[in-house]
Amino acid sequence: MTLIVLLGAPGAGKGTQAAVLRDRLGIPHVATGDLFRAAIREGTPVGREAKAYMDAGQLVPDRVTIRMLEERLAAPDAADGAILDGFPRTAVQAAALDDFLGRRGSRVDAALLIDVPAEDLVDRLSGRWICQAAGHPYHATMNRPRASGVCDVDGSPLVQRADDRPETIRARLAGQLDDLNAVVEHYRSTGALRTVNGLRPIAEVSGGLLEALEAGTAGVA
Ligand code: AP5
Repeated sequence: MTLIVLLGAPGAGKGTQAAVLRDRLGIPHVATGDLFRAAIREGTPVGREAKAYMDAGQLVPDRVTIRMLEERLAAPDAADGAILDGFPRTAVQAAALDDFLGRRGSRVDAALLIDVPAEDLVDRLSGRWICQAAGHPYHATMNRPRASGVCDVDGSPLVQRADDRPETIRARLAGQLDDLNAVVEHYRSTGALRTVNGLRPIAEVSGGLLEALEAGTAGVA
């Protein structure tokens, strides 16, 4: 089982890079944000509980999030591992993931931190467009689709995420960075942390992440 955790502030590029790693490593991309957005669309109890927190730019409570993630990791397509995007987000979630994997004789192989300064995150989030069908991410200036307003992968229309409004972006950045730091420290202490400079073109960040995985040692790529 290969378990990779992608860490980074909102807008650091976790979703963009998780898709690259998924294609390269052949294990599923599991994003708790995507799971919550699907639950909201389907109107499930988890979706109804998560919506108010997401609209306010706050983290969904650990108890709901951990149960949802564990159910997803128990699915057959994750038997060989997964790339986690957006989980763990708190020290409690990180400890729960260690317990879950420990019960299966496994552990987090690498926690890859995509490091982007806070001042660049607002531009990334406010310029983001995602496709309606599958959430493939684009950017108005830094990662444009081939045809305006249409997804390159599946042809569906591009839309803006509800939590990419300026006031919600500010709340996400203000409210979630302390928790991110706690998770970063958790993986620094286990030796799984590797930091990659995220302030480069997308392909270069992908190269840095793959190098960090191959090197298998802590450091900056
Ligand atoms: P989630 O969906 O996880 O959002 P996030 O962490 O805020 O991260 P984003 O998806 O906004 O950004 P990203 O890092 O994936 O960046 P992207 O690749 O899109 O969570 C949403 C909400 O759900 C949370 O606020 C919370 O309420 C809840 N939630 C989720 N998980 C939870 C958990 N574990 N616990 C509790 N609550 C949870 O890139 C951003 C933009 O930049 C795009 O436009 C992209 O094209 C562009 N870009 C990417 N890389 C580059 C680059 N190198 N150069 C230039 N542009 C780039």
